[in-house]
Amino acid sequence: MHENFQIKNLEEYFKIYRKSVEYPNAFWEEIAEKNFVWREKWKTIMSGDFESTNIKWFEGAKLNITENCIDRHLDKQGDKTAIIFEPNNPDEKTEHISYNNLSKRVNKFANILKQKGIKKGDRVCIYLPMIPELAISVLACARIGAIHSVVFAGFSSQALSTRINDSKCKLIITSDGSYRGRKTINLKEIVDEALNDCSCIEKVLVVNRINAKINMESGRDEWVEPLLNKASDICEPEIMEAEDPLFILYTSGSTGKPKGMVHSTAGYMVYTAYTFKNIFQYNENDIYWCTADIGWITGHSYIVYGPLANGATTVMFEGVPNYPDYGRFWEIIEKNKITQFYTAPTAIRALAKENLKFVEKHDLSSLKVLGSVGEPINEEAWNWYNENIGKKNSPIVDTWWQTETGGIMISPIPYVTPTIPTFATLPLPGIQPAIMNSNQEELQGNQVEGSLCIKYPWPGIARTIWGDHNRYKQTYFSTFKDMYFTGDGAKRNEVGYYRLTGRVDDVIIVSGHNLGTAPIEDAINEHPNVAESAIVGFPHKIKGNALYGYITLKNTTNNEDLLRNEINQIITEQIGPIAKLDKIQFTIGLPKTRSGKIMRRILRKIASNEISDLGDVSTLLNPEIVDEIIKRRI
Ligand code: WT7
Repeated sequence: MHENFQIKNLEEYFKIYRKSVEYPNAFWEEIAEKNFVWREKWKTIMSGDFESTNIKWFEGAKLNITENCIDRHLDKQGDKTAIIFEPNNPDEKTEHISYNNLSKRVNKFANILKQKGIKKGDRVCIYLPMIPELAISVLACARIGAIHSVVFAGFSSQALSTRINDSKCKLIITSDGSYRGRKTINLKEIVDEALNDCSCIEKVLVVNRINAKINMESGRDEWVEPLLNKASDICEPEIMEAEDPLFILYTSGSTGKPKGMVHSTAGYMVYTAYTFKNIFQYNENDIYWCTADIGWITGHSYIVYGPLANGATTVMFEGVPNYPDYGRFWEIIEKNKITQFYTAPTAIRALAKENLKFVEKHDLSSLKVLGSVGEPINEEAWNWYNENIGKKNSPIVDTWWQTETGGIMISPIPYVTPTIPTFATLPLPGIQPAIMNSNQEELQGNQVEGSLCIKYPWPGIARTIWGDHNRYKQTYFSTFKDMYFTGDGAKRNEVGYYRLTGRVDDVIIVSGHNLGTAPIEDAINEHPNVAESAIVGFPHKIKGNALYGYITLKNTTNNEDLLRNEINQIITEQIGPIAKLDKIQFTIGLPKTRSGKIMRRILRKIASNEISDLGDVSTLLNPEIVDEIIKRRI
C-alpha cells in the first residue's frame, strides 16, 4: 500500500472519510487502482445492495492474491523477512522466512495440492497448529484457486467433521500433532476420528511437527515433507475473478450449525491491505506481531493477507502466553523488536494479574502501536496495557470488527485519532455505521445508544454463507431494512465516538471466542439425563464473559459433580474446551413465556447476580420457578 494512502492526521482523516461517504465507489477504486497487481481491470466497481444481498466489488477484474502478497515483492525485497516463526519452546530456533523462501515454499505446496487432484474451486480443509505450514498452505490454496477452510486446531473432532462436511472438502492438511505450552496434542488422532464421519475427504496431507508415531491410512494419508522435497518451486498462479471465493471461515451463530462465511478475492484483499496499512501505521522496517491464531479471522486478515499484501514482516507464534512463564509475550517483543503488537483483552487481563516483574524484565521500547480485538476492552485492562506495555507512549487501537466484515471497521488510527479507554472511536473510511432503535429508526446525532448496523457495502464484507444464502439474508439483512445488522449494541458519545456495548443476540464472547448458545445447548441436551438447558453469559474477570448453564434433569442425581463433568465432557467433544461451562445449576424448570420461550434475560440477570432488578416476571408461565432458581444459584 502506497504511503499516500496512509492517513497522517485527524484533519486528513475527516477529509478522506467525507469523500468515502460521498463517493464510496470512487474512493475504493482509487485504492484498488494504485496499490495492487491486476491481470485485468474491473468493469464495475460495485454492484448490489443490502436489499438484494448480491454484493459484488471490482467485477470483471482478474487477479491472484498471492501475486499481490508474494510475487510482486520479490524484485525489491526478496530477501526481506516475510514471516518470523516463534516456536512454542523458546529453546527451539526462531525461523526467519524471506519473501523469496516463502514464494518457493508456497509454490511447492501448491504443486502438491495440484498433484493430489485439487483444482480451482475445490475446498481444502486446513487443521494445523501455528506453524509456518499453516500460512504456507493457506497461500498455496489461494495460488491455485482452491478455497481454504481453516479450522482452528483447538476444535474437537466433531466440530471438525461438521465443518468438513458442510463445505465438502476434498482434502485436509494437518500435522501429526502440536505443542501448546507443556502439552502435546495428537492432532492426527482427532482428524482420524473426524474422518470416520466424512466421506468427501479423499486425501490427508500430514506435516511432521512432533515426530509422533501415528496411524497413516495407505492410499489416503501422506507425509508432506517427502512430497515437498520432490515438488517444483515454480507454480503459475491461477487467474481468478474478483468475486471468486478465496476462503470459507466458520463462525458460530445464535442458532444451529456454524455459518461458513464466504470471502471474496479482490474486495477482501483491498480491504485487508488498506486497513492494515492504516490501523497499524505500518512502515517499511517495522516488525508486526498479531498473537491470534490463523484459525480465526484475525489471523487470516492480520497475520497473513493484510500484512503480506503490504510486504510487511509478520510474526507467527506457536505457543501460549504463560509458557515457559508469564513473560513470554514480552520476551518475544524484546527479542524481535516488535513495533506493532495486536492481542485480545482476555490475554491482557490474564497477564495483568501476574507479577509486574514479568513485564519489567523486558525492554519493550521498540513498540509503537498496541492493538486490541475480539471483545470490548474494559477500562482497567486498557489502562494496564497503556501504562505497563505502552509506557503511555504507544497508542492503543481498540479495533471492532467481525468474521463477517473481513477486516477492521471501527478503530482509532494511531497517532491520528485521540483515544479514550473503552471506545473503538471512529469508523474507517468507507464504513458508514448507523445506530438503530427497536422501531427500525436510525438514531441521528450524538449521545445515542442502540443496535449497530452498517449502511453501505464495503469491499471486505462476506458475500454469503456457504450453501445457505437464505440464512445470510435472514441473519444480517432482515432485522433492519437495507442495513447490515452486526448483532452488537453500541453507543455514540458526544463527539461521535463509538463504544461497543456487547452482543444483543444469543452469541456470547468468551475469551474473545464467539460462541452461540444454541450449539452448546444442543450438545448438553444429548446427555441421556438432560431434559432441557439454557446457557447465558456472566461477567468474568479474565474471560470477559463465562458460561452459566441452567439444566433440568430427567431424573435427580445424588452426584451432581459427576454429572457436571459429564456435561462438560460432551461439550468438549462436540465443540471444544473453549465452550465448557464455568457454572452449572441444576434446576427443576426454566422460566418461560406463555408461548414457551425461555426467558434468557432473567437467567442472565440471575447469573450476573443482579437479582434486585429482575423486572416483571408475572407474565411468565411459571413465575414461581424464578425464586427457586435464585435460591439455588451458584
Ligand atoms: C464479535 C465478532 C474481529 C475478530 C475477532 C472476533 C466482538 C470484536 C471487538 C471490540 C467490542 C468486539 C463483537 C463482534 N468484538 N472486536 N474491539 N470491541 N467487541 O471475530 O469471532 O467474528 O466476533 O466480537 O461482539 O460482533 P468474531
